Amino acid sequence: MYTLIDGKKTSAEIREEIRGEVEALKKSGHRAPHLAAILVGHDGASETYVAAKERACREVGFDSTVIRLEEDVREEDLLDQVRRINGDPAIDGLIVQLPLPEHLDEQKVIETILPEKDVDGFHPVNVGRMVIGLPAFISATPAGILELIKRYGIPTEGRHCVVIGRSNIVGKPMSILLARKADPGNCTVTVCHSRTRDLAAITRQADIVIAALGKAGFLKGDMVKEGVAVIDVGITRLPSDKTKSGWKLYGDVDFETVAPKSSYITPVPGGVGPMTIVSLLKNTLLAARKEIYR
Ligand code: GUN
Repeated sequence: MYTLIDGKKTSAEIREEIRGEVEALKKSGHRAPHLAAILVGHDGASETYVAAKERACREVGFDSTVIRLEEDVREEDLLDQVRRINGDPAIDGLIVQLPLPEHLDEQKVIETILPEKDVDGFHPVNVGRMVIGLPAFISATPAGILELIKRYGIPTEGRHCVVIGRSNIVGKPMSILLARKADPGNCTVTVCHSRTRDLAAITRQADIVIAALGKAGFLKGDMVKEGVAVIDVGITRLPSDKTKSGWKLYGDVDFETVAPKSSYITPVPGGVGPMTIVSLLKNTLLAARKEIYR
């Protein structure tokens, strides 16, 4: 029988912990942590994410500011907003919601955010610091996965972890974090991707699989060994006539066939997803307390 990793419950517990820490911070005379988000244009998914982040901030007692810019904003005007927030001592963390419209250079925008306020952990300085094991803001999804592994006591030391996917946001940082000399960590890590030959032969050797390739139901039961721990990062929306909203969320793991063979498994939805926003809150708290950059 497997343990279902409940990201919804765990994230609610962490939100409570953060709320307590914010109260303590305020009692000691500090202002509340303050997260700013820049939202360009009116992309539906981005609007939803930013609204969820605002709500989460409110729930834990953070201040939050959303700066809305028009779809056709000039790059220089966007960069000016970033610089203004960089220089505002009343704001601890800044995220620029991605993706940005075509005419804007995402990398340039990310690199304009001060690393000290880059609570998304996307700035090359934070990525580089993470790689060499210095204190850094770690991006929300990998940080959330590490937290689940830690809180559920999934053993990692000496274990073979197979990461499927090599994105900058999940696969790449995840592979580095799990190989670190740390707990959780000390894994032997294999990274698989779209060019990997005989991927199933590799995933069958895994003690832990992190599926982050973005293909609904990709990992099947015959691709894993008995006792595997499975973290499903996929969130593919497919149309469905069985739900009120008209769509259904699918992970990268075929839960029906994989779950019976696993020791631990995350559901979709309710696994990794709810953990990402609390990781962002945690980073903002760290930024407010100046714990990463002293
Ligand atoms: N778009 C999708 N995920 C993210 C995220 O974690 N941060 C930002 N800024 N944009 C996103």
